[in-house]
Amino acid sequence: MATPWARWLRRGVAAAVALSVLGLAAWGARAWHGSRLPSTYNVMELGVADYGGAAVVPVAHGAGHSRAGEKQMVSVADLTGPRAEPDFRTTLTARRTRVRLPSGKAIDVWAFNGRIPGPELRVRQGDLVEITLVNADIAQGVSIHWHGVDVPNAEDGVAGVTQDAVLPGQRRVYRFRVHQAGTFWYHSHQASSTQVKRGLYGAFVSLPRGLEPGTLDLAIVAHSFSGARTLGAHDGVDRRAVGPGTPVRLRVINSDSFSRRFVLAGTPFRVVAIDGTELHEPTALRGQTLELAGGGRYDLAFTMPRSTVQLHLLGAKASLALSQDGRGALPAGEPGPEFDPLRYGSPAPTPVDASSHFDRTFMLHIGKRFGFLDGRFGRHWSVNGKLLPNLPTQIVSRGDLVKMTFVNDTDEDHPMHLHGHHMLVLSRDGAPATGSPWWSDTLNVEPGERYEVAFRADNPGLWMNHCHNLEHAADGLVLHLAYDNVMTPFRVGAAAHNHPE
Ligand code: C2O
Ligand code: CU
Repeated sequence: MATPWARWLRRGVAAAVALSVLGLAAWGARAWHGSRLPSTYNVMELGVADYGGAAVVPVAHGAGHSRAGEKQMVSVADLTGPRAEPDFRTTLTARRTRVRLPSGKAIDVWAFNGRIPGPELRVRQGDLVEITLVNADIAQGVSIHWHGVDVPNAEDGVAGVTQDAVLPGQRRVYRFRVHQAGTFWYHSHQASSTQVKRGLYGAFVSLPRGLEPGTLDLAIVAHSFSGARTLGAHDGVDRRAVGPGTPVRLRVINSDSFSRRFVLAGTPFRVVAIDGTELHEPTALRGQTLELAGGGRYDLAFTMPRSTVQLHLLGAKASLALSQDGRGALPAGEPGPEFDPLRYGSPAPTPVDASSHFDRTFMLHIGKRFGFLDGRFGRHWSVNGKLLPNLPTQIVSRGDLVKMTFVNDTDEDHPMHLHGHHMLVLSRDGAPATGSPWWSDTLNVEPGERYEVAFRADNPGLWMNHCHNLEHAADGLVLHLAYDNVMTPFRVGAAAHNHPE
């Protein structure tokens, strides 16, 4: 028989357990509730401002006049490209369609102008381009982002941040001057994790003024559909006849959400550009495996030999084969040592380097932790230990020199894509970059890696800075780089029909 003491003790323990269960439930309900995203929201309202160590500058929020020392607020919608007569003009219509691949296999896709990839846009450096987006029948709405082209903010194509999604029957005109020469691509930035995968993407090439005449210049986009892996429009070997001695440039674009590996067999070659920026004094490579980040681009150059050259996409049947007569035996593509841009080519002066005085420094520590994300409990992507909607927003002033450090504390790759700017890689895991200046807009940060990058904040706006594994982005791995005097009138969320991820 229990003593009164033991009975009291039992009751006390039971009460304590009940209280902590209640407390835990109340904490859980609060955390759950606090994680719910509103039905529409302004991305500026979510997130926690990170000033990168700089002082906060006062900004006038009311329209009209600002007091001395205050900056005037600017709307994203006013940061447009020039409105003059364009040098290049085209229309891209988004529509559901069925395409038949060369193997005979048919796939249901969402495509621009009925093609996979969408039409290749080839412009000249300096052109003012005007592209009209028409949505025929994509019920969720669409938009177009010019991945890697540093356009004025209003032309950036992010639904809910720089524009409203274009709904069926609607159209939207993009107009911007292309200052860069290089390899870029375009894709929908509405529900991008679904829409890019389904086919709303294409190559965007800006040709330099002084082009080597007679060059065979091909843009090749690697993509995975459910059930088919393609290089350009091909799911098998794409054979072409090329005369020996022809200069060849292959612009390899990875439109997938994950890294893809390529081998160029049958010739020495150089990697002449990364993410739309030429490399300085790239040296000849042979047999190296090229691992390309999701969203990234490598330009490869070589002189056509007498024998066959083949670009293999590892893990896929799709390849590109160049030979004198468009036939003949194919060289095997064995994976070799991995190409590393950190030590490739030779140094050249850059407008910013590791010894620069930085106005802002930001740390982006990517992790995974348990918690609620929009009401769902689980292990979610975190930045600096926080989940959406409490992720840091990096605030800058126009003209700032910015240093950013990316740390990947997870076991998956994160191809980090900063809109509107190119980042100069300073170091990886503490080892300084010693090769050609390496400017990236889509930097693959692998598990355990730490990259330091730098850029000049010279393109005012509200810019996404996100993981280009678009499923990761849809699962919350999205940040924003915000200029301190820029606001957006657009809203994300179901009620606004805007879902950038
Ligand atoms: Cu290619 Cu924010 O995307
Ligand atoms: Cu990621």
